Amino acid sequence: MPDFVRIVPTFADPPKLLRDGDVSILVHRDTGIEYRLNATAATMWDGLREPTTVAALTERLTRQFDVPADECRATVEQFVERMCELGFVDVDHDGSESAALRRRYLGLLKRALVNLIYPEHELRPDELQANVAADDRVLRDIRYARPDDFETLVACKRDGRNFRQRVTRFSHTMIGLRRLENIEWCAGRIFADGIQGDFAEAGVCQGGAAIFMRALQVAYGQAERRTWLADSFQGLPIPTDPADEGYDLSEARQPWLACDLRAVQDNFRTYELLSENVRFLTGWFSETLPDAPIEQLALLRIDADLYESTRDVLVSLYDKVSPGGFVIVDDYHAFKPCRLAVDEFREARGIDAPLTRVDWTAVYWRKRD
Ligand SMILES: C[S@@+](CC[C@H](N)C(=O)[O-])C[C@H]1O[C@@H](n2cnc3c(N)ncnc32)[C@H](O)[C@@H]1O
Repeated sequence: MPDFVRIVPTFADPPKLLRDGDVSILVHRDTGIEYRLNATAATMWDGLREPTTVAALTERLTRQFDVPADECRATVEQFVERMCELGFVDVDHDGSESAALRRRYLGLLKRALVNLIYPEHELRPDELQANVAADDRVLRDIRYARPDDFETLVACKRDGRNFRQRVTRFSHTMIGLRRLENIEWCAGRIFADGIQGDFAEAGVCQGGAAIFMRALQVAYGQAERRTWLADSFQGLPIPTDPADEGYDLSEARQPWLACDLRAVQDNFRTYELLSENVRFLTGWFSETLPDAPIEQLALLRIDADLYESTRDVLVSLYDKVSPGGFVIVDDYHAFKPCRLAVDEFREARGIDAPLTRVDWTAVYWRKRD
């Protein structure tokens, strides 16, 4: 990490800090992820509460512990890297005005994609469904009229969870802020380390996560990479594999998971991100992916819920992922069939790169060199 790196806390709502004897435990408020801090880490964490730099943190450590500065610096770098990965802080690599603007653009975009910009709009249809003659003042001030609902909805948006047993129907992505941050973190590593290849998402629904993947390429001056979107654009298939038994999420049962290609393209247009380098692979994965004209991938994101769908993506696309590239699996913990497909594939291929947890459901691994 170069000296000019500035480390910025990402949290509007700082993590909880629990004490357990000498050990402190950081708990991410959105994801529940826990991180244990020993005395050294606790000192660094104290220094991360405000924007700071690697040099300032190193100095803080050297002052407190009797350890040479170069050792402290390595410890600080490792710790900051881990905190970024877990979404507690962010690293601003060049500190320029354009980098600050990029951060603001991406921050606003994430909130727009999960619909944290006008979240009230998602409560209004329910209110009207329950009472067509709902009071205009309740509709206008719904955030204050229904504060518990509002708070729950906002938490679901951060966390990418269902609201009232339904996927959040009116946002461009259902994956939540934390998983968008994970995409951002992976893209940052890819660009910084010069990992070659395009980005792909298999299972795009309304396109929000893929829109963010494209925005990252554009915002980092990497627009020559392609963004591939694979989807039936008519929802999930009716399950046929025994491993998917009991998981019928097809259009008849889950209409909100079936998104028209035109709507996804329009969503890209809304964000001014539709271009030649955004490519659509329309149809069932088993038909579109084996011969897809993708040459190399730096980022493969799989968000397809089922065993068969997840397996089809891995079988067709994994070998195209560059060494140092990332594979993200959205539904690993949420859907048993998806987990099975990933575990079987990793075992069959002898993949031992560790699976890192992103939040309550998603995981990723980085393909080894
Ligand atoms: C949970 S949604 C994806 C959510 C999306 N990534 C987002 O940002 O909100 C799952 C998507 O996977 C697609 N899908 C699942 N299995 C598929 C298959 N075998 N072939 C094509 N599309 C599939 C569905 O059509 C659906 O759009």
